[in-house]
Amino acid sequence: MNCQLFNLPKKADGRGNLSVIEEFKQVPFKIKRTYWIYDVPGGVERGGHAYRENEEFIVALSGSFDVCVADGKEQKTFSLNRSYYGLYIPKGIWRIMNNFSTNSLALIVSSTNYDEKDYIMDYEEFLQYSTTSNRF
Ligand code: TYD
Repeated sequence: MNCQLFNLPKKADGRGNLSVIEEFKQVPFKIKRTYWIYDVPGGVERGGHAYRENEEFIVALSGSFDVCVADGKEQKTFSLNRSYYGLYIPKGIWRIMNNFSTNSLALIVSSTNYDEKDYIMDYEEFLQYSTTSNRF
């Protein structure tokens, strides 16, 4: 599984902390889009899909949540509970986000513009896709 959790730079001084992401540095792709998820009600699950082409880099700017990923062979759960963690998710990965804490804020940077045709919404179709796409 090519998902990877990175420790982002953290500049700490008496005024607080600062972390940073830049394309082709911490983020291993050209950034085309940024969106954020917030005000998630307790117990809600988001995601539940894969992308054919889009890659993502996810940071919990505030609070915490889990990202559960699967590549058709292996499953993993990453707990994003520090503002200096960054999770890279390549294309072709099924992902679910859950366990959002109150007031959590998820930042997602993406390698493509939004395209609903890039989504695989059905898990069976994803499993089929991951075995036939020859990527793993
Ligand atoms: P969706 O991808 O289903 O969110 P999640 O993966 O967190 O469950 O997107 C929710 C809605 O927002 C859906 O109507 C599509 C829209 N949307 C955009 O318009 N642009 C975007 O960049 C994204 C990610 C979603």
